[in-house]
Amino acid sequence: MAAITPLLRLLPVLLLLLPPALLKYLTASNGPAKDAGIGELHPIVLLAGLGCSDLEAQLTEAYRPSVPRCGAMKGKGWFSLWQNTSDLLAQDYVQCFEEQMRLFYDPAINDYRNLPGVETRVPKFGSARAFHDKNPLHPKRCLDNVREALEELGYRDNDTLFEAPYDWRHVPPVPGQISRSYSQFFQRFKALVETASSKHEKKVIIFAHSYGGMIALEFVRNMPLAWRNRYIKHLLLSAPTLSEGFMRMVQGLISGSEHMIYVPTSEASLRTLWRSFETSIMGLPSPKVFGHEPLVITKQRNYSAYDMEDFLAAIGLEDSIEPFRRRMIPKMNYFEAPMVPMTCINGVGIRTPRQLLFWESDYNVSPEIVYGDGDGGVNLRSMTAFEEEMCREPRQKRQFKTIKIYKVGHSDLVTEEGAIKRVVEEILEANRISSNTLRTTF
Ligand SMILES: *[C@@H]1O[C@H](CO)[C@@H](O)[C@H](O)[C@H]1NC(C)=O
Ligand SMILES: *[C@@H]1O[C@H](CO)[C@@H](O)[C@H](O)[C@H]1NC(C)=O
Ligand SMILES: *[C@@H]1O[C@H](CO)[C@@H](O)[C@H](O)[C@H]1NC(C)=O
Repeated sequence: MAAITPLLRLLPVLLLLLPPALLKYLTASNGPAKDAGIGELHPIVLLAGLGCSDLEAQLTEAYRPSVPRCGAMKGKGWFSLWQNTSDLLAQDYVQCFEEQMRLFYDPAINDYRNLPGVETRVPKFGSARAFHDKNPLHPKRCLDNVREALEELGYRDNDTLFEAPYDWRHVPPVPGQISRSYSQFFQRFKALVETASSKHEKKVIIFAHSYGGMIALEFVRNMPLAWRNRYIKHLLLSAPTLSEGFMRMVQGLISGSEHMIYVPTSEASLRTLWRSFETSIMGLPSPKVFGHEPLVITKQRNYSAYDMEDFLAAIGLEDSIEPFRRRMIPKMNYFEAPMVPMTCINGVGIRTPRQLLFWESDYNVSPEIVYGDGDGGVNLRSMTAFEEEMCREPRQKRQFKTIKIYKVGHSDLVTEEGAIKRVVEEILEANRISSNTLRTTF
């Protein structure tokens, strides 16, 4: 007893040492959290993964519909194109949707664009209700649970809590590359961060999941270093899909990828649509990480990461070779550290495709799959390669942390209770680091 008493006496003092938000988190009763912590919180911007942002379209006079009914919205202003895909069947709009949603690579500008006469935009920029999943089978992948947990902490929509939706059909450029879609997005993102930061006189935390991780990373790397130092508090990436590449993207490219986006249509139509997006050739395995290992195995020939152009031709995607060469290869070869405090959270210990066997070279049948380690989508070797790259820069290494959560899959990282708790802890930790409340409280 005697030994315990001093510790018990110390307990209130120890609790005082914690920042108010964390204290509230740890001692919260079940009731809704009070707003007490708001003043201490750094603003946060969330980016969810592929397909989570809505898209709106408008059809101008230049639009030539393939069938008359697809032109019904011509001249009628903005309407929701990618918002509720379950609704497309009921509206008999699947064919029109596919036509208005698809992208084309334009070699003259080395960038992707819509069909002539189709204009698109991303609604709800900045709102903490910008993302939602279109797939009724897993409706929570678009950060709903993370957002709820943050609101419990005292984060508030349009005050300290924001979302940065983006046109996920496009791939963010590395510095030096042009992307009309992202140059606009980066401008909005920059303005959002600056406004939130000056309102609270605090730097901003960015939390991004999956493909949002690549967007967030490229946003930060495209900003001048002085700007990053001034405005970015912490970059927190959960299961980021990066240009190290992963085999799931090869699978998606072959199959049409019902796992990547949800549209109630035939496998063949979805494949054509998916393959028109720049995103479809993002994240193919990079030679630096996957080396000469055979990734796609057939009777006649094997394809390694060095053979991705031949592989594109083999699956009938000759048209994707040029954009792959001109837009994706430079990304694979770009390894600058973002030079801001950074944490990567990844799931591991889940069966993840490593090699695909199409023995008869028939890409319409399901392959035999050889599995390795990863989060079910991203291969462990890609995560490791990225971490090594970040640690090669000593000034990044000092402010780089990785967290591996065993047996939690790619999407479960933002839906499972335990994983969300970990994310919230990291966000609180990021809040704590520079906060001077510690000294004043004492
Ligand atoms: C989407 O559309 C379907 C079918 O029309 C409907 O049942 C569902 O409630 C809609 N979902 C949302 C989120 O609006
Ligand atoms: C968000 O907050 C700003 C002021 O900080 C206000 O001008 C704006 O109207 C708000 N937007 C929404 C959608 O509430
Ligand atoms: C393809 O790779 C497999 C597995 O490594 C190997 O057994 C086979 O000999 C290779 N085939 C060709 C044609 O190189």
